[in-house]
Amino acid sequence: MIAHTGRRAAHFNVNTESNAIPVLRPVLGVETSCDETGVAVYDVRGGLLAHTLYSQIKMHADYGGVVPELASRDHVRKLLPLIRETLRKAGMSLRDLGGVAYTSGPGLVGALLVGAACARSLAWALDVPAIGVHHMEGHLLAPMLEADPPEPPYVALLVSGGHSMLIEVSGIGAYRLLGDTLDDAAGEAFDKTAKLMGLPYPGGPALAKLAESGEPGRFKFSRPMTDRPGLDFSFSGLKTQVLLAYQANAQAPGAKADIARGFEEAIVDTLAIKCRRALAQTGARRLVIAGGVGANKRLRAQLAEAAEREGFRVYFPRPEFCTDNGAMIALAGALRLEAGLREGPQIKVAPRWDLESLAAIG
Ligand code: KG4
Ligand code: ZN
Repeated sequence: MIAHTGRRAAHFNVNTESNAIPVLRPVLGVETSCDETGVAVYDVRGGLLAHTLYSQIKMHADYGGVVPELASRDHVRKLLPLIRETLRKAGMSLRDLGGVAYTSGPGLVGALLVGAACARSLAWALDVPAIGVHHMEGHLLAPMLEADPPEPPYVALLVSGGHSMLIEVSGIGAYRLLGDTLDDAAGEAFDKTAKLMGLPYPGGPALAKLAESGEPGRFKFSRPMTDRPGLDFSFSGLKTQVLLAYQANAQAPGAKADIARGFEEAIVDTLAIKCRRALAQTGARRLVIAGGVGANKRLRAQLAEAAEREGFRVYFPRPEFCTDNGAMIALAGALRLEAGLREGPQIKVAPRWDLESLAAIG
């Protein structure tokens, strides 16, 4: 196995065996970049045929975060049974597959190698093409799994555990970074803040749940970097503000939920302000929200309201396709295979991989 890191892997999707014959049969997608094993079958004409997901959350909860070696080993245990189950759900056998797509980065190197080795070997054995998919492109294209998908050009807000990015999408694979986080990603800010408030792992959804019963406006935290031009984010200072409020008010009745509410409102407002700024800057009228934090109900509601009021359209994947899943990888891989892109037979992964380096297709 060869693990490539950093920019050396930037040309994954252009390092192709030239074969322009379109893949017209269903594509298997495999996601193993972190703590979720996701498998799906996607057909460019028939759409999503089946998908399954196994989350390792319970296993990592005892440690308060993802333990990479345990993650890799669990992907080894779960991946083949999930592939069998997904094919059974789709009413298909391995022989019906026209290609195999897998997340080849960014992510945990061991976890990525499990998916890459399995998917690449399967493709080789079946004599079908394989393609490595950029995990964040998967998130970015996830709204295409829904009815009424967005047409480029659009602006995408990608908010996950590891990223907070605003991206101008002018076509599939044509991505320009408009703004990025200078420190913590939005999901990371949710998770770390939840942890310091004593909430169980994974903190983001737990904090959002607690915020539902909190009183709005009782605790007001800053909207970082909204008072100056630009589209970058910085969320690490919010943690300190929350910690101080929590320490000073921990005993007061209802304070915990009210602080959670104040924190969630600060993050959601900040994201919404920057989204509207990115739309104004690019002139785009369509906004896509993707990544785990895109499952947040308040973010969805606030952006839906802003869209209604200001006359732009906002697209969200269903919440289960905001967080990590195999369906988005099968879809992104199927589109790339359809465009004639293929990987060579080596098993390669890219734990770090620049989204802007992808090859545009179509
Ligand atoms: O996209 P994702 O599943 O994995 C990565 O690629 O990172 O995103 C996971 C992140 C975690 O930080 C998690 O706490 C956050 O998304 N998240 C949420 C919610 N659901 C997941 N954050 C806020 N509200 C939610 N409802
Ligand atoms: Zn993700």
